[in-house]
Amino acid sequence: MTERLSKDIKETAEFINAELEKICDGYEQNEIFVPEMKAVVDSARYSLTAGGKRIRPYLVRCFSRLCGGSDKDAVTLGCALEMVHTYSLIHDDLPCMDNDDFRRGKPTNHKVFGEATAVLAGDALLTEAFSVICSGSLPDKAKLSAVKILSSRAGILGMIGGQEIDLSSEGKEIPLDTLYSLQRKKTGMLIEAACLLGCVCADDVTEDKTECASEFAHAFGLAFQITDDILDVIGDEKELGKDIGSDAEENKCTFVTYLGLDGARAEAEKQIGNAKDCIRKQFCGETVDILCELCDYLLTRKS
Ligand code: IPE
Ligand code: IPE
Ligand code: MG
Ligand code: MG
Ligand code: MG
Repeated sequence: MTERLSKDIKETAEFINAELEKICDGYEQNEIFVPEMKAVVDSARYSLTAGGKRIRPYLVRCFSRLCGGSDKDAVTLGCALEMVHTYSLIHDDLPCMDNDDFRRGKPTNHKVFGEATAVLAGDALLTEAFSVICSGSLPDKAKLSAVKILSSRAGILGMIGGQEIDLSSEGKEIPLDTLYSLQRKKTGMLIEAACLLGCVCADDVTEDKTECASEFAHAFGLAFQITDDILDVIGDEKELGKDIGSDAEENKCTFVTYLGLDGARAEAEKQIGNAKDCIRKQFCGETVDILCELCDYLLTRKS
């Protein structure tokens, strides 16, 4: 990863981490909070602050910059998205789903807090994300757009739909186009939400720009999931911070099972090429260069 990219992501992560801690503190400081509710706040805070890469909030910030929005609004929407993403990970790790023990370098949420509280913490993060959008400082019209974007990309026709196809495909040979549809939904949709939420931070963004954000997101998201599938096979558990070999254990259909490691790498490279072409056609300036560096980083990422 280039130095300027690593510095920029680190700075975004610091803003996001501080804001997420504040959000969790807010629940405990509320006058209607009682000690019996503490476990669910601890559980949500545990996963939220365990140190994810914060790629999605970083994409929100980059697209906000490209379109002329403020960093402050990008941090608010980035937090909301990171809450939804974290909820999806807590539920994804449950024994009834991928049954994993490690996440973000720590034992999975249900291993520490039990399954029931892990489910509730996930539910809480999903719900509270929309409250975070509504209490931010964007104009009402932009808040409404943000709620529509996040709910549609996280919902049945988005990430949840992808997760359902993922589960229903375990142990089966699915057609390659179903695998693309699965990945486009389970991972691509929250990445698309990130890029579109960035556009929402600015006033009057043209349709050309939002279309470009969506197209970029889906190519980037596909490359992101392909490299996730590769790392599940050849990654280092410590560096990755989560279990490896989980896909094979659960008999998942992945890009590696279909295309082999070399074929999967070639497909990721192709998608990264598409993502970079798409962004360069519509935008220019330093943020575009940094986004292209982020694209290249996906091909060599170890975590
Ligand atoms: C993991 O996402 C889940 C996938 C969609 C592959 P990340 O790799 O972004 O996980 P964190 O947020 O850094 O933990
Ligand atoms: C899950 O994909 C994506 C989500 C919607 C949570 P994976 O199951 O491949 O993610 P990891 O490998 O557990 O992070
Ligand atoms: Mg999964
Ligand atoms: Mg998983
Ligand atoms: Mg995976």
